[in-house]
Amino acid sequence: MIVTIVGARPNFMKAAPIHAAFRAAGVQHEIVHTGQHYDQAMSKVFFDDLGMPRPIVDLGVGSGTHAEQTAAVMIGIERFFTENRPRAVLVVGDVNSTMAAAIVAAKMGTFCAHVEAGLRSGDWSMPEEVNRVVTDSIVDLLLTPSKDADENLLAEGCARETIVRVGNVMIDTLLRHLPMASALAIPGRMGLAAKQYAVLTLHRPSNVDDPVVLSRILGAIAEVAKELPVVFPVHPRTRNQAASGGLQLERTAGLMPMDPLGYLEFLSLMSQARLVLTDSGGLQEESTVLGIPCLTLRENTERPITITDGTNVLVGTDPTLIVREARRALQHKTATHRVPELWDGHASERVVSAVLKRLR
Ligand code: UD1
Repeated sequence: MIVTIVGARPNFMKAAPIHAAFRAAGVQHEIVHTGQHYDQAMSKVFFDDLGMPRPIVDLGVGSGTHAEQTAAVMIGIERFFTENRPRAVLVVGDVNSTMAAAIVAAKMGTFCAHVEAGLRSGDWSMPEEVNRVVTDSIVDLLLTPSKDADENLLAEGCARETIVRVGNVMIDTLLRHLPMASALAIPGRMGLAAKQYAVLTLHRPSNVDDPVVLSRILGAIAEVAKELPVVFPVHPRTRNQAASGGLQLERTAGLMPMDPLGYLEFLSLMSQARLVLTDSGGLQEESTVLGIPCLTLRENTERPITITDGTNVLVGTDPTLIVREARRALQHKTATHRVPELWDGHASERVVSAVLKRLR
């Protein structure tokens, strides 16, 4: 058995095409869910939307401090590996579950591949940067989405033969589901006209955990919302932090806060947006492929190709800059971009052939 570990929301759209590609190659492949994310809207809806089978196990680790969450995943994964002896393990992305599972695989001598290896923000205050660097330093096979990732790994001393550039598996999922998502016509159902609204997501601890920072960002968004409606599916972390900081999202004119959306609903919404404002990694990539201007509300990105090739602009969290760049993006009719090499809908097939080649 080969297994792919998932834990948090951005993992699900990466694991789905990998699972399908292993099954298409006639390989027994199973999904192991750590349970880092557990709400219906943060987890189960993605399995349904993406046509993924139920995970072979859900470890149910839930929320906690970094140490608690990482340790709980390690204990659960070690037990699962001991009982099931997988031939190979794939970890995806950069969440705590990714790193925790990679550490267990390394210590048990189980072959482990990292999908989305080599991305670096250079920002050690991001928990994901720690997860990326630790994971890449201990896995057997580094499957990268882009040339900059290969270069980062080589600069860190990784052996060239352990690096295989496969492209972006999340884009496999996007291209496969776009027709189905578009058919849902979510903007129309929300009373929005195509290209006449913006979509906002925020969940990075550095942006949402401090009420002063969060309210400064929301102040800038309120300005943008004077130009066009801003749809805001709110991550549970952000919802909790806004509530404890006394911020009332519903009170901002033009801002449309709502519960998190499923994969297809969100893709339907984003694909017709005029502008995306986000601190997510995945949305920088998805907007690049969709050709939608993206303002990233962070000081750095581990995905520089979305700036050099795509539609992404780093604006940070200075309200003046956010408003200025939003106005600038709204003035231009189209964003010039090209889709990065190998973001072509076939990355998961390359993942499977790279893994099987190494196992032979
Ligand atoms: C995690 C990942 C982050 C990823 C994000 C996507 C790490 C370090 N962070 O951040 O890289 O971009 O997922 O969403 O792994 N919560 C719920 N229900 C859920 C999940 C979370 O209510 O199903 C709330 C809880 O209050 C929890 C908080 O959100 O404490 C944060 O969840 P956690 O998994 O710790 O981190 P995320 O902020 O979601």
